[in-house]
Amino acid sequence: KIYPVILAGGSGTRLWPLSREAIPKQLLALRSQYSMLQETLLRLADWPELMPPLLTCGNEHRFMVAEQLRGISIEPLAILLEPEARNTAPTVAVAAHYLAQHDKDAIMLVLPADHVIGDPQAFHTAVRQAGQAVEKGALATFGIVPTAAETGYGYIRRAKAAFSGIDGCYAVEQFVEKPDRAKAETFLADAAYSWNSGMFLFQPARYLAELREYRPAIAASCQQAFDASYRDLDFCRLDEAAFAKCPAESIDYAVMENTRHAVVVPAAIGWSDIGSWSALWQIMDGDDDGNVLRGDVYTDGVSDSMIRAESRFVAVIGVKDTVVVETKDAVLVVHKDQVQGVKKIVEALRKNS
Ligand code: GDD
Ligand code: MG
Repeated sequence: KIYPVILAGGSGTRLWPLSREAIPKQLLALRSQYSMLQETLLRLADWPELMPPLLTCGNEHRFMVAEQLRGISIEPLAILLEPEARNTAPTVAVAAHYLAQHDKDAIMLVLPADHVIGDPQAFHTAVRQAGQAVEKGALATFGIVPTAAETGYGYIRRAKAAFSGIDGCYAVEQFVEKPDRAKAETFLADAAYSWNSGMFLFQPARYLAELREYRPAIAASCQQAFDASYRDLDFCRLDEAAFAKCPAESIDYAVMENTRHAVVVPAAIGWSDIGSWSALWQIMDGDDDGNVLRGDVYTDGVSDSMIRAESRFVAVIGVKDTVVVETKDAVLVVHKDQVQGVKKIVEALRKNS
């Protein structure tokens, strides 16, 4: 019995000015009429073995998340509310406690709410393969073929032979979260490495055992925060004082780099984490000139560009490889090769506010 655990608590600054602290990336309708969170759930709609999803998010986003679930008629198992963001190791821990209590046979499929999977069928197959390893106590990751020396991803080195003879499953020999540039270059050149997609499959008790071993302080405060939690409609409110004491760390550093029980299922699933405006441009269908246009937009002599107007009329003439994003209170114009610089705008704005 697989329960999707949807991580919907990130703040996503790289798609500024559309994503803000008030409305992070996963709650925006970037590609279609549906938000990234809604697309994440809709893509699982026809998997017969799936149980209702468990969501985790920041307290401040609870109404938006609940509203978006209603919008696609999905009844969650619960929405776990974090009084403060503590990154992913804690949020996965409280979800594991919730599921362990709810169903002793639960397996959790941890999914970030802000990814695109172009081939959900292939992903479904990969999850089934991973399921066989998870029954034997493994913590499964899904590996993506790296296409650049990205430093914002985890890198996974797989063993040569299949894990326990399971098709498509390999033991993880090394997991390196967010390497420096030089290391990323060497990993890219070695076919034994995959990117970590940030999606995981494991038994709740397995994850909690690893967390207790490698990060006892996180494990202890999450246990307390869950034990003292209380139900409020669909929401499950974690204990504020206990959760506030929890160290902030990602599941990748806290558990995946340390565990000796990880496996990887390399999966060609059309994955993207939409880490930038150019990544979004790439996965959207452009017109004949390679343009992705949204809103009230006029263009002439424009190619391979993304122009988005949210609230005003935007006219663009004679540019190539350009991203223009207009919102009510901010306008971004950036060359498609320079979109990583958007993060710096957000940092500068934070400093000045
Ligand atoms: N509920 C909750 N609470 N969700 C959170 C929190 C939190 O405190 N922090 C982050 N998330 C959510 C984000 O919204 C996102 O969906 C997911 O957890 C992963 O967090 P990111 O902050 O986006 O992680 P990352 O992109 O730096 O790195 C992870 O993903 C990469 C692939 O996109 C790692 O798993 C890498 O190894 C991986 O390559
Ligand atoms: Mg991410």
